[in-house]
Amino acid sequence: MFNLKKVKKARKRLAYLTSFLFKLFQINLRYKESRKDYGIEIFEYFYLPWNSEEEFNSNYDLISNHSLNPKSRLYTLYEMSQRYLSPNTSFIEVGCWKGGATGLVVLTNKNKNINYYACDTFSGVVNSSDKDSFFKGQEYSDTNISYINEIEKIVGEKIKTIEGIFPYSMNDVELDKPISFAHIDVDTYVSAKESLEFITENAIDGALVILDDFGGWFTDGVTKFGNELKSDKRYFVVPNHLGQLLIYKI
Ligand SMILES: C[S@@+](CC[C@H](N)C(=O)[O-])C[C@H]1O[C@@H](n2cnc3c(N)ncnc32)[C@H](O)[C@@H]1O
Repeated sequence: MFNLKKVKKARKRLAYLTSFLFKLFQINLRYKESRKDYGIEIFEYFYLPWNSEEEFNSNYDLISNHSLNPKSRLYTLYEMSQRYLSPNTSFIEVGCWKGGATGLVVLTNKNKNINYYACDTFSGVVNSSDKDSFFKGQEYSDTNISYINEIEKIVGEKIKTIEGIFPYSMNDVELDKPISFAHIDVDTYVSAKESLEFITENAIDGALVILDDFGGWFTDGVTKFGNELKSDKRYFVVPNHLGQLLIYKI
């Protein structure tokens, strides 16, 4: 089955194909990439459980119009929440946009007595700094709280909606239960850093935080922040190469 000569040939063809594809992407976006650590990789990775898992797919169908995230990354939230979102704790999403990812976590974790917090400025991305080469502010402002109300109806549970710049938006909010599982999807360095600091201060040991945008093409501020965490002894971090960094609070 594994013939090294054939495999090497196939890998060479794949390399041509991916570099051609990456050129097409750049032409399409009218952007020329000069950084060496960006490109398209077709990983030799064939196990795609999000295609076949029935419960995930029926939950996904209910919320996919309210999320920007691809199916593979939402599957991470589905799968990891089952294990790490502990009964009688809180889930928090910073950067909920229209609430689909939070909705998926609610649908997947019924009867655990969880408090759900969906946080967003509802006026777009903030905290752009010199660490962020592409995000300038106000991207993804095409949302409002009524979308979270729609998600509440779809999932049949109450979600605490927190409007404003996180974590300052939490100043007057009492967290009744500690956080065991969280999703940060905010696009900029400062927002990602401040979100993680607040979450881990209010989380149980062993809590899991999924940091989106770590592998994004245009979210280099979050990539820088995620790479800094690799040498931070308070955390154990693992990139899953779907674009997310899994951060465990030790
Ligand atoms: C890419 S969208 C999130 C996508 C969403 N998680 C989903 O599944 O579709 C990024 C969101 O982060 C929000 N955001 C960025 N920084 C924030 C901050 N410091 N506080 C609150 N919201 C923030 C933006 O308003 C935007 O709606």
